[in-house]
Amino acid sequence: MFEVILSETHHSLKLTKWGQTQLMILYLLVSGTCSLVTVLQPPVIMSPLGRAVVLQSNLFLSPDEKMLAQPVLYWDHLKEDSDNGRLWPSSKKYKSRVALMDSNEDSFNKSILLKNVQWDDSGQYLCKLSITTERKKFRELGTPTLLMVYDSMFFNITAHEDPLLCCEVNVTRDPAVVLSIYHEGSKLETGDSAPEEAAAALPYVTLSKSVHVRGGGNYECQLHLNADLITNSSFQYNPSGVEVFPEPWPLYGSLLLVPITVLLGLIIVQKCRS
Ligand SMILES: *[C@@H]1O[C@H](CO)[C@@H](O)[C@H](O)[C@H]1NC(C)=O
Repeated sequence: MFEVILSETHHSLKLTKWGQTQLMILYLLVSGTCSLVTVLQPPVIMSPLGRAVVLQSNLFLSPDEKMLAQPVLYWDHLKEDSDNGRLWPSSKKYKSRVALMDSNEDSFNKSILLKNVQWDDSGQYLCKLSITTERKKFRELGTPTLLMVYDSMFFNITAHEDPLLCCEVNVTRDPAVVLSIYHEGSKLETGDSAPEEAAAALPYVTLSKSVHVRGGGNYECQLHLNADLITNSSFQYNPSGVEVFPEPWPLYGSLLLVPITVLLGLIIVQKCRS
């Protein structure tokens, strides 16, 4: 017998560090003398399946550049042909799932929201802006953002004789995505099950790790993209099986109070009569 406590947390958009350094470099460049128009996108973003994700893009202009008109915004999913793959202005396919994050068209923040993310959505997204300045009219491209998708994590005992703790998650295929299991904070050597050949056609891969549980305590499975924690799941293992329930003292107390009051009442009645 063992006691199970499962918990799962999601960390979408874990790539905030990127933004800060890139923006700082950019501000330094923009504040310099060279004239500059840049569309900045993060290189990679991970989204839980079925959730909404923000595809970020920001326009930067150096002070000597003046726009004569509002830039025209396009967002494309590069996997698809240009008719189907246009998120903004939305093609039929994306109409109900895409919204601008900042509806003020003067804003330089050109991020969009993609709702109900599906496996099919994984891939490269490119933001393009048609810009008219005093000097010229041109189209400025960002650098594509790779959207990766992951499903909820399974982390549980699979064999009860010699308990095997198994962690499994479906995620967009990428060598930078790694699954690992920890016991009381230290990383464990794990057995991998090789992904099946037949699954090669799927848009995701099932990552799987397992360990033989040796001691009780807290086990944790973590999904990382390089150094960033994407999602994790915990498992409490208690091999003794002694279930410890806290004693409900307040309940006992209140239960005892009933006969005591009745008894007191009776005594008082007896005393009065005699
Ligand atoms: C642009 O908007 C998005 C979504 O509202 C936000 O997460 C991001 O931080 C903004 N970028 C900048 C540079 O302000």
